[in-house]
Amino acid sequence: MSTDLFDMFSKVFADYGYDIKRFKAPFIKRRLDRRMRIIDVHDYTQYAAILKEERQEFEELFASLSINVTNFFRDFMVYDRFKSSILPRIISSSHQHDKIRVWSAGCASGEEAYSLAIMFTHAIGKLNNLSMEIIASDINKKTIEYAKNGIYSAKSVEQLPLPIVAQNFQKLTNANNIVEYEIISNIKNLVTFKVGDILSNDMRCFDVIFCRNVLIYYEREAQELIVTKFHHCLKDSGYLVLGMDETLLGRKCEKLFYPLMARERIYQKVL
Ligand SMILES: C[S@@+](CC[C@H](N)C(=O)[O-])C[C@H]1O[C@@H](n2cnc3c(N)ncnc32)[C@H](O)[C@@H]1O
Repeated sequence: MSTDLFDMFSKVFADYGYDIKRFKAPFIKRRLDRRMRIIDVHDYTQYAAILKEERQEFEELFASLSINVTNFFRDFMVYDRFKSSILPRIISSSHQHDKIRVWSAGCASGEEAYSLAIMFTHAIGKLNNLSMEIIASDINKKTIEYAKNGIYSAKSVEQLPLPIVAQNFQKLTNANNIVEYEIISNIKNLVTFKVGDILSNDMRCFDVIFCRNVLIYYEREAQELIVTKFHHCLKDSGYLVLGMDETLLGRKCEKLFYPLMARERIYQKVL
């Protein structure tokens, strides 16, 4: 995508109060092309004019910038390693009556946040002097509404071990006679969902931040800003977990974190 074209769409977004310069240009182009195919427009200038005039089309394009593919215990091995190596450290360094605080940043429809709630509950369930809370946020309002509901299709849970499903979900049959699975209230109540941009978050003192499969859509500079934000939001020696295709290698912010388990993308805050 040429710089002129990118600038033309940046201006349209800026008029609506959004900054797309932090996204990777090829990602923006793929999203534009997709929307243009759907509404059968073949010229970028014409599409830019439509966006300026039709807020509804702008909203559709904006929602399409939020790729919200996700699943429960995505990359199971990462959760497994986190549970065996990092969780015990967090538990042993938490003082009595401390709340363990976790942030699922870019949580999409909530599967990551609920997976964390299930994992932590299992690990600290019997330690009655410890409690926890999970803040789960996403820029996309629709996915947050879905997440709050906590009801998922049979397909979403089919890969999960049966005991996890039995202990944490309630089987339902909806009005159309379709089987669904609802997260039980003990788990649901641990998670607070919020709509919001990671960069405008002002919560602090997290023990862990899971921000998986979000940075990949951003330019290096925006990635630096986000990772610096995480450094600020974590407790001393807190943990950051990225997606399998994401890395801090070669970034200026690399020195803010130590790669504790490089393969699993588990990092620890450096002071
Ligand atoms: C591919 S999903 C990843 C979901 C989950 N973390 C996972 O790994 O399965 C990326 C999510 O990040 C959200 N997102 C992207 N940029 C964001 C930002 N700046 N602030 C909050 N959420 C963001 C998108 O809306 C989308 O729901």
